[in-house]
Amino acid sequence: MLLFFALVALNSFKICSAAPPEMSQTQIHLPKPTGQYQVGRSVAELIDYSRKQPFVQDDEPIKLMISVFYPLPQQKHSTFAAYMPPETAAIEDFELGLTGLAAPNGTFEKLALHLAGNQTPENFTDVTTCQYPLVVFMPAEGTTRHFYNQIVSTIASTGYIVVSIDAAYDVDVVQYLDGSLALFNFTLWNTTDQALLNATGFLAIETRVRDVSFVLDSLSNATFAHSLIPNLPPSGLNTTHTAMFGHSLGGATAFSVLEADDRILGGLDMEGGLFGPGLLNGTSKPFMLMEREGHTRENAIDDPFLTLEKVWPHLTGWKRDIIVADTGHYDFSDYPVVFETLGVTPTNEIVLEHLGLGTLKGKRALEIVTTYVGAFLDFVIYGKCSAILDGPVERFPEVTFEY
Ligand SMILES: *[C@@H]1O[C@H](CO)[C@@H](O)[C@H](O)[C@H]1NC(C)=O
Ligand SMILES: *[C@@H]1O[C@H](CO)[C@@H](O)[C@H](O)[C@H]1NC(C)=O
Ligand SMILES: *[C@@H]1O[C@H](CO)[C@@H](O)[C@H](O)[C@H]1NC(C)=O
Ligand SMILES: *[C@@H]1O[C@H](CO)[C@@H](O)[C@H](O)[C@H]1NC(C)=O
Ligand SMILES: *[C@@H]1O[C@H](CO)[C@@H](O)[C@H](O)[C@H]1NC(C)=O
Ligand SMILES: *[C@@H]1O[C@H](CO)[C@@H](O)[C@H](O)[C@H]1NC(C)=O
Ligand SMILES: *[C@@H]1O[C@H](CO)[C@@H](O)[C@H](O)[C@H]1NC(C)=O
Ligand SMILES: *[C@@H]1O[C@H](CO)[C@@H](O)[C@H](O)[C@H]1NC(C)=O
Repeated sequence: MLLFFALVALNSFKICSAAPPEMSQTQIHLPKPTGQYQVGRSVAELIDYSRKQPFVQDDEPIKLMISVFYPLPQQKHSTFAAYMPPETAAIEDFELGLTGLAAPNGTFEKLALHLAGNQTPENFTDVTTCQYPLVVFMPAEGTTRHFYNQIVSTIASTGYIVVSIDAAYDVDVVQYLDGSLALFNFTLWNTTDQALLNATGFLAIETRVRDVSFVLDSLSNATFAHSLIPNLPPSGLNTTHTAMFGHSLGGATAFSVLEADDRILGGLDMEGGLFGPGLLNGTSKPFMLMEREGHTRENAIDDPFLTLEKVWPHLTGWKRDIIVADTGHYDFSDYPVVFETLGVTPTNEIVLEHLGLGTLKGKRALEIVTTYVGAFLDFVIYGKCSAILDGPVERFPEVTFEY
């Protein structure tokens, strides 16, 4: 099974459209991405020898894992591929089982993403794939990037190449191509001391901001880009005009990266606070907050330093702050749709709260999140206006505006 995730390392062009090995009979299929394109996936490992990993004692360079989801023309055949590697899935079974989710061993290993078939690139009749813009995604602290694969592949299906970046030791588990694991340095976050948390969060975001720049540098290498994505033009990817979205700490990174990297033209923070180096100066680039129920800028329980409230006047460009009703912190990940698909959505309120879930249905949460992310990206990348970004609309009564 690991072989699939190692394919990219072999640098073979023809297997870029993510042909998975046969999965077991018991696989459970996530919904087909709703955009007009099918989606392919590549996975790669990137090492930045110029920096040291701050969250381990040993001297280690920064070692990142990325998934790239890209649009492909509609094909006759589609296929299903593992949602996450089996070893990572086993860790998630255990971890989420501890919070009360019904996730016995083998639960997450069964999940499969709906991807494009294994047609070779030379068979594509539509070669416009190459023109799709690149956008960046980062997950929450403590949460593998794989738990956003459905959101990210849905965005890719609308015509974006999305690179999803995992940050070692600040997500729960990063699994490398050789199978080795980097596990969350939980000790650092296991404190109620706000100053300590702020210091850790600040360092984590600083590190992630540089990770994003490093990934863009790496993807600007056309040879490397071609090894990941079929049908790019000879010049490769456009890494100079991109946007970023992220969840929680990933969203705070999407804010702080704005002033640090000219290549990121706008940022979307899904259910996150704002801390990190970006707070010093604010930004004039487009920035959007998409928050859970009750997470207003004035809410001092969510945000003891009131950073949202304080930084808001320093966001001098286009900005929005929306709230989605009936949601918790993790409704902005794949949790709702994944649990719904597996039939394990908890009904117990305490378990829901532990998992950070509201009462919004899985597919609906996915639809709201991906529709608003999509509208934001279309605005930043193409300058396209959208009624849903201007104020409440009938189609999404769950969404209210905080400005
Ligand atoms: C966690 O990070 C701290 C601070 O960098 C470090 O001292 C500690 O050794 C790390 N823990 C592990 C298990 O690597
Ligand atoms: C589930 O897996 C973990 C670790 O892989 C193991 O320790 C545990 O015994 C397993 N539980 C069951 C019920 O098989
Ligand atoms: C791709 O094209 C080649 C040559 O035109 C053909 O032999 C092959 O069957 C095609 N493959 C698929 C998956 O359609
Ligand atoms: C977190 O910290 C508390 C209080 O210091 C401690 O009791 C607990 O064991 C820690 N949890 C972990 C997983 O390290
Ligand atoms: C958080 O940490 C950063 C970096 O050390 C510091 O500049 C900032 O003032 C701290 N914020 C608070 C509220 O303590
Ligand atoms: C570009 O990427 C290729 C393939 O990964 C690699 O062999 C080459 O060394 C890279 N070039 C530079 C300048 O880093
Ligand atoms: C990247 O996209 C921007 C905006 O469309 C365009 O102006 C720029 O020339 C592109 N750069 C490359 C290298 O294609
Ligand atoms: C904030 O602005 C000052 C003055 O322009 C600049 O020196 C500093 O690097 C900026 N800090 C960040 C984190 O962008």
